[in-house]
Amino acid sequence: MLRSIQRQLITGHASKLSSLAIRCFSVSADFEAAQKNLKKLSEEPDVQTKLKMYSLFKQATQGDVTGSRPGMMDFAGRAKYDAWKSVQGTPKDKAQHLYIELVNSLLKEDEKVAASSQSSIEGLGGVNGLSISVEGNIFRIRLNRPEKFNALTWDMYRGLTEALNFASKDKKTRLTVISAAGNYYCSGNDLSNFAVKTPEDVKEIAKAGEKVLNAYVKAYVEHDKPLIGLINGPAIGISVTVLGLFDSVIASDKATFHTPFTSLGQSAEGCSSLTFPLLMGHSKAAEVLLFGKKLTANEAFDRGLVTEVIPDKSFAVEAEKRVAAYSELPPESLRLNKILLRDINREALHKANNLECKLLHDRWQSAECAAALQKFMTRKNK
Ligand code: COA
Repeated sequence: MLRSIQRQLITGHASKLSSLAIRCFSVSADFEAAQKNLKKLSEEPDVQTKLKMYSLFKQATQGDVTGSRPGMMDFAGRAKYDAWKSVQGTPKDKAQHLYIELVNSLLKEDEKVAASSQSSIEGLGGVNGLSISVEGNIFRIRLNRPEKFNALTWDMYRGLTEALNFASKDKKTRLTVISAAGNYYCSGNDLSNFAVKTPEDVKEIAKAGEKVLNAYVKAYVEHDKPLIGLINGPAIGISVTVLGLFDSVIASDKATFHTPFTSLGQSAEGCSSLTFPLLMGHSKAAEVLLFGKKLTANEAFDRGLVTEVIPDKSFAVEAEKRVAAYSELPPESLRLNKILLRDINREALHKANNLECKLLHDRWQSAECAAALQKFMTRKNK
């Protein structure tokens, strides 16, 4: 009887011990997995979270904090020491649990952001003439209407506005890049946007157009991330004027920059009435905006509109190298410095945009503009 009780006690104890061992083993396996999974996060956690993770890791692997508190000048060492001390007394296995929980919650949050970002990007697609994608931490907008030299339809303006606004707030990406398919970068406003039948139509289109254009340019002014333009070929009209709102314009030596507003009976937009004189000085800006001088890539570089000119045969590869290097810079610092640079002129830019759109609203209804559009539309009939 006594033997049987002893046996039961021993087997019962052994099974408890083995289940404890299994539990310990699985916690430490989860702990190791959590350390590996941490690398899957698309973005580094903020400083407070990193300190929390550090403290739990140290507590889980070494127990209570040892040594003396680092001095005032060793900010990082001191912050780490304090974090570790804040979990003093926590048993090692409990610290492992807390560490695993923290990593899992970060991964879950990351997945949620990725899923919502992906579905929002998919929601942005579907505009003819635009391709929108995210590659790593880069938000890409590609003008994709090469058969019309990427001329901008009203739908493309709206799509670009939405994409820029989305990219500006998107937490997953650090930079926004605009590029184009085909040989042209963009031939500007699609002149058939103004194909109308009656004077009433013109009025309606001018009114709606003013709104669309204003929102479009505003999206550039309000863009909170570095914006990079890759100019593969000729750029005309509004695709040139908004370049003054980019942070970097990288051009092929085949690119040209042309704003033939006055010969079309129209007027400058994209805040160029402010940015071009700031970049080039008044007379050089007037040469472009009033007298329609077409600039080569090197001339645009000399006038500060273009950041760098790259020979066409290596343009795609070299331009992407610049983009990749910029995308490795610390995102928060990039964003805050971009906002700092923009804030200097933000109000003036909004004012310029409003004035320009108002004038265009009137110019689109002018006889000069109607005659120029008629000439373009019928040029192939002669
Ligand atoms: N709006 C509407 N259609 C445009 C366009 C624009 N801005 N730019 C190019 N296209 C279309 C052309 O109508 C043509 O389409 P089609 O083949 O159906 O006729 C196609 O793109 C190719 O243009 P095309 O004129 O045949 O080529 P080209 O080499 O002779 O001339 C340009 C190219 C860009 C110089 C000429 O199309 C042009 O002057 N476009 C207008 C540019 C402009 O003034 N933009 C507005 C500035 S405010």
